[in-house]
Amino acid sequence: MELNTIEWKGNKLVLLDQTALPNKVSYIDMTTVEEVWQAIHSMIVRGAPAIGVTAAYGAYIAVQYFDGSVEEAKYELKKQLDYLATSRPTAVNLFWALERMGKVAELFSGNDLVEFQERLLNEAIVIHMEDIKINRNIGEHLLTLLEDGQGVLTHCNAGALATTKYGTATSPFYLAKEKGMSLKVFADETRPRFQGAMLTSFELYHAGIDVTLITDNMAATVMSQNKVQAVIVGCDRVAANGDVANKIGTLGVAILAKHYGIPFYVATPTPTIDLNCATGTGIPIEERSKDEVLKPTGQYIAPPEVKVYNPAFDVTPAHLITAIVTEKGIIHSPNEEKLRAVFK
Ligand code: MRU
Repeated sequence: MELNTIEWKGNKLVLLDQTALPNKVSYIDMTTVEEVWQAIHSMIVRGAPAIGVTAAYGAYIAVQYFDGSVEEAKYELKKQLDYLATSRPTAVNLFWALERMGKVAELFSGNDLVEFQERLLNEAIVIHMEDIKINRNIGEHLLTLLEDGQGVLTHCNAGALATTKYGTATSPFYLAKEKGMSLKVFADETRPRFQGAMLTSFELYHAGIDVTLITDNMAATVMSQNKVQAVIVGCDRVAANGDVANKIGTLGVAILAKHYGIPFYVATPTPTIDLNCATGTGIPIEERSKDEVLKPTGQYIAPPEVKVYNPAFDVTPAHLITAIVTEKGIIHSPNEEKLRAVFK
């Protein structure tokens, strides 16, 4: 089954509705900037790279049918970029993509509105296409760290559904299959929104990849049973010192991996590195609705009035990370000097 997370089709953005998976494969047309904001906010589209690509198209949609001067269109765009930036706080790819779209507008010096609009659409398409290449390269690098027959545990969904193809953490699984190498993937279900169950196990299973779904509290057991030789996760933001924000539960997995001497790799497109954020404590962590914890499948599993804490992400300190793997290469024992060197 070929799933298109994000597609620019004719003159509109089409998103796969990830909130309906795995039970229904359905697509939603996005024709206004408000719809794009809502799609990111409600997680119809989610995963750091996919959020970035969607926001880039959203920026174009904001002025797609604008009628007026280029100066007025630039003013409108600026307003809508600020609006889109409020859709979710943690994945830095959102702000990175919006900034890139803003730069294109800023550098545009002509007064032809159609040309201005075309430049913005082109930039969104370039961001989209770059994502595919980045993910494939991350997969190639990660594959050099793995051996045939190994077990790999992943958390949340840093898969094709979280990007535009291959995924980041899952990219080596797709490439291994292409190359006839066999890997055994363990997917944490990933409470409270179950991205591991609803998305990772779904996409890997349908791709014919050997995947075993486990509940989050089984990770220690499969590690203790020598079933896992590597952990690979994605990330939403890497701070300058190498601390990494990713889906809630990642920190626990990293601590377990350290305990069992299992390498812990973070698949990271360079747009996910935020050198302006000195350490992980500076990364804004999204807190989501208490209903995600209270009613994970629609029915209450606890008293509706009970207090709930629902941070959507956690921060794994750099010292627990064996390597950060970007499209440009592998950064062993990440620190500020090594991360800054990536951009030189
Ligand atoms: O809340 P989500 O589903 O957007 O969180 C997704 C993750 O935490 C992913 O691991 C991360 O964005 C990397 S996706 C390649």
